[in-house]
Parts: sequence; structure tokens; C-alpha cells
Amino acid sequence: MAKHFIKVAASAPAFTKDSVFVIGVTEKASKLTLVSDSVDISSIKNLDLAKLGVKSSPDSVVKVPAPNGAFFALVGGYKNGDVDSLRYLGGTVGRTLNEFRQVVFALPIKNESDAFSLLEGYAVGHYSYDAYKSDAKKASAQTVVLATKVKVKPATLTRVEIMRAAVHDTRDLVSMPANDLYPQSFASQASKLAKGSAVTVTILDEKKLAAGGFGGLLGVGKGSVRPPRLVKIEYKPTGAKKKIAFVGKGITYDTGGLSLKPANSMLGMKYDMTGAATVLNAVLAIARLKLKVHATAYLCLAENMPSGSATRPGDVIKLRNGKTVEVTNTDAEGRLVLGDGLALASESYPDLIVDVATLTGAQRVALGTRTAGLMGDDAAVDALFKATKASGEFAWPMPFPEELRALLNSDIADMMNSRIGNPSGGMLVGGLFLKEFIGKKSKTSDDLIPWVHLDLAGPADNDGAGYGFIPKGATGSYVRSLIALAESFAK
Ligand code: BES
Ligand code: ZN
Ligand code: ZN
Repeated sequence: MAKHFIKVAASAPAFTKDSVFVIGVTEKASKLTLVSDSVDISSIKNLDLAKLGVKSSPDSVVKVPAPNGAFFALVGGYKNGDVDSLRYLGGTVGRTLNEFRQVVFALPIKNESDAFSLLEGYAVGHYSYDAYKSDAKKASAQTVVLATKVKVKPATLTRVEIMRAAVHDTRDLVSMPANDLYPQSFASQASKLAKGSAVTVTILDEKKLAAGGFGGLLGVGKGSVRPPRLVKIEYKPTGAKKKIAFVGKGITYDTGGLSLKPANSMLGMKYDMTGAATVLNAVLAIARLKLKVHATAYLCLAENMPSGSATRPGDVIKLRNGKTVEVTNTDAEGRLVLGDGLALASESYPDLIVDVATLTGAQRVALGTRTAGLMGDDAAVDALFKATKASGEFAWPMPFPEELRALLNSDIADMMNSRIGNPSGGMLVGGLFLKEFIGKKSKTSDDLIPWVHLDLAGPADNDGAGYGFIPKGATGSYVRSLIALAESFAK
């Protein structure tokens, strides 16, 4: 675990060994320019930047000696007053300059929101997962100094820390291998993370799930020796006028079940609980930020295994809202556990339902590994889309053509969970299946509860090199977007 300690100071500390001073690089009239604040960079003013490999592009970091054994880090992608580039630059610094005990941001910022974004990027980017490395060194905490005359309130630094914890705790859960993270242990981890927060945690075990008619969770979980769980984390502050429900796919391992995945496709499937980890940490952060909104996370936890007790292709199960599903493909399991979760969430008539899921390989094919797909009601999609933009995360609204729903018509049940042999529009079909489990706005209304579905099958995992505030591996993406959405809702 990479640790750090952040302070803001009106002037930069002296140059000392083990310190690095971060200077921005921009390009003016195709000439590289160094941009600094509160620090003397005269010792490097005659350097030939181009020959040193300095670039103005994001993620470019070149270290050059500074006085007294200190270093300057000349970091590209700097744009004064642009929160997205400052967040990204901060992330690059947090992710890469780990060999220094002290990091000093000595570049100009305009206001407090710039300061927040730079430090948020740094904190989110300063991450490592070494829980399973036997030679992991106890890294000493890095001290971060933002040298600026801009006034930064303590609450802003608290907010940075809340965002950091939300993203890092998500990555930690997602990275944990499935021999240690399974439905029961996930539920214990959720309780542990919730300790000290103003939330109530309710865990439904397999007996309660059976009594409650949660046929999706039970149907998916019954091939595993580790039974499923539904965990509800509720934050209900006094005076909240609106209610949001977050539902997360928490398949702690997805082998595909009896519709077994090929070896190569199975490898990353410990990530299949990213949605649950994301909604859990979003609600915990919403509670820590004391937002005036009633927010509940529903974690739909099961392990999808093939065995003598597993659901067979062709079996029919009944979900929480009474709808029956012919399971034509046991690898389309996310929608089965989410169906139960969405139905349960609907029962308390929230103003908005957001589900988060590594639902389809089709999402990855369509949008790649950095952009999530958004589906659902236009207004809800738009609200989440705006929140992703404000958070520097990437998503895109998909069309949601109702006629594709007919592909899931079953001869013997209310619907099938997948159309074997027809992968067309797979991401959209997954979304249309989920829609069947969204309840009505009220007992007397015919309108459905506003809902948005986020498919992050691609962006959950960064299988390339790190960039900005995103490491290799679990990204923790969209936690901050969900928090931003709740914030816009609380207003
Ligand atoms: N967990 C997978 C989706 C996935 C694929 C996530 C790749 C991350 C990377 C999901 O349960 C799944 O297998 N979906 C099937 C659905 C199909 C059978 C309708 C898929 O996408 O192939
Ligand atoms: Zn699957
Ligand atoms: Zn899955």
C-alpha cells in the first residue's frame, strides 16, 4: 500500500535530497516551455529540453537534477486552469515518482478546484497492490506539498482523502484473488469497510435468499460450495429529500458455469465483482461526505462455478419479482443476480436506480477498455454521463432499441437470459434484460423508476501500462462518477 501525507504551503520547501519538484511542461508556438510557481528553476533554464526527451504530452515525465541533490520532474500535459489535465498530471506524478520521500507541486494553479483536482489525481494515482508479494517493502509515506498562494480549505483535503479511499478500496477488493474473495468473505469485507461509517449493513445469507425468492442469486450460486449473499448498505441522513439505489454485479469468480468459458477468457474473471465493489465504496464515500441524499448499495454476490449442483442450460428459475427465466447460457449470469438486486431495490421506490456491472464482452468489443456503456432512461443516462465527464472518467450513451427485447422471448418461460447463436447488440440485449426487473414508480403508477445501467466490462481492468491516475490492473473507475452523481442529486 502506497501511503502519503498531503500539505499545502504558500511557498515551496528548500531543495533537499530525496525531494522532487514537479514543473509543468507546455508547448507555445511549437516550443517547449517550463511552467513553475514558487520555486527557482534558473539552474535548468539553459537545458536543451527536446534533446533531454522532454515532451508536452500527458504521461511524459523527465527527471533532471536540481540544487542540493534534489530533482525536478518535468511533466507534460500541463494546462493551467483545466481540472481534467491537472487531475491527470497529478495522477502521473502519484503513479510514477515513488522513489522520492517528498513531492513538491511547484506549478501554477488558479483556484481551489484546480488544487483539488491536482491532489485528487495524485492521491488516486499513488497506489500499489502488494498484499500477495512476499518481498513487499514497507514503503515509507510520501510527503506531498502543494506550493501555492491559493487558499485550500481543510475540507478540500478531507474530500481528496475520501476520494482516494473510495478508489483504492475498490481496487483492493477487485484485485483480491477469488480463493480469498468469495460471497461470504466479500460480505465480511463490506462490513469491515463500513465500520465507523453512518451506514447500516444487512446481509442476506442463502436461507434468507431462499425465503425471499431470490432465484437469480441462488441459481447462479448453486454450482459453488460457497453460497451467495446479498448485502445491503444503507445511508439515510436526516433531511434527505431524494433516494438513490445502486445495484452492483458481484460475481466473485465467473467460470461461465456449465457453459464453461475457454481458458483464456476465464483468466480475468476475478474482476467480475467490480460493480459490487464500486457501488459499495460509492455509498461509503457518500456517507463520509455527509451528502444530503438517501443512498443504498445492493451487492449481488455469487460465485459462478460448474459442478454437479450447478444450474444447467435449459433450467428455468424464478427471480425476486416473480418473472421466470430460461437459463440458456449459464455464462450470462450477471443479469440473473442483478435481476434479483434490481427487483429488491425497486421495492423501496427510489427516485433513481443505477446498476454497475461487468456485464458483457460485447461492451468491450464495442467501446474498448477505457469507455463504459450507458443504457436506460434518457434523463438518467444524461445525469450519469455528466457525472462521468465532471470526474474525468469515460462513458458513452448507447442506443436502447426496444425491438431487441424480442430476441429473449422464450418458448417455456417469461424470457431467456441469452440468445444462443446471435451475439448482435450483446451489450444492449443485456441492458434490455435488466430493464425487466425495474419496478414501477409507485403502487399506482404505470411508469418505471428512472434507471441507468453502466456496463464496465472493459474499463474495470487496465491490462496495458498505467496512465494518468490509472494503474495497471483494477482501475477503480466510476466510483468517483457515482459520488458526483449523488452530489448532483443531493442539490
Ligand atoms: N463476466 C462476463 C462479461 C465480461 C467479459 C466481463 C469480458 C469482462 C470481460 C459475463 O458474465 C459474460 O460472460 N457475458 C456473456 C454474455 C453472453 C453469454 C450473452 C458474454 O459477454 O459473452
Ligand atoms: Zn459470465
Ligand atoms: Zn460475468
